[in-house]
Amino acid sequence: MSNKKTLLYIIISLLTITFAGLAHAETGKAPDAKAVAVGKKLYIKHCQVCHQKDGVGEQPISVYIRLPGFVTAIPLNESSHAWHHGDKQLVKIILSGSRRTKRMPAWKDTLSEEQVKNIVAYIKSLWSPEVLACQGPKHMDCKR
Ligand code: HEC
Repeated sequence: MSNKKTLLYIIISLLTITFAGLAHAETGKAPDAKAVAVGKKLYIKHCQVCHQKDGVGEQPISVYIRLPGFVTAIPLNESSHAWHHGDKQLVKIILSGSRRTKRMPAWKDTLSEEQVKNIVAYIKSLWSPEVLACQGPKHMDCKR
């Protein structure tokens, strides 16, 4: 390879690495403390009734006694799979609600996108650094 070609190769590689990093910018970093504080208040007001304190989720109800179609509010801490979603996906799920159950409503008429982003920051504050580093599509490659 000529020197010029080698240089071009290095530049392209560096750009690729940089942009791949940006695409997963939500992963790995601890959420902003201010956003977490705002999000926590909103979480307590709107979400805690179902997802419970610290996002531990509702206790599963036995199929023998639960009403048909009843879906429990799954944990949002790291014990369930909320962290398999990237930030954007989480914001989208919260704004548009679950297609499976009306129990998880669309929040877009109640909360702004900014408020939901803060709630996501709070949810992420419940995860360990290992899980944060594995958030989103990366979870497939992680051992957890
Ligand atoms: C009335 C109960 C209820 C309230 C209030 C509620 N949720 Fe949910 N939520 C649910 C249920 C039930 C599910 C499971 C839906 C499913 O499995 O399709 C769910 C699912 C979710 C999920 C998907 C998790 C995953 O791993 O796929 C997220 C994220 C979520 N809720 C966030 C929130 C946030 C944030 C709020 C407050 C703004 C909130 N929920 C308020 C009941 C509730």
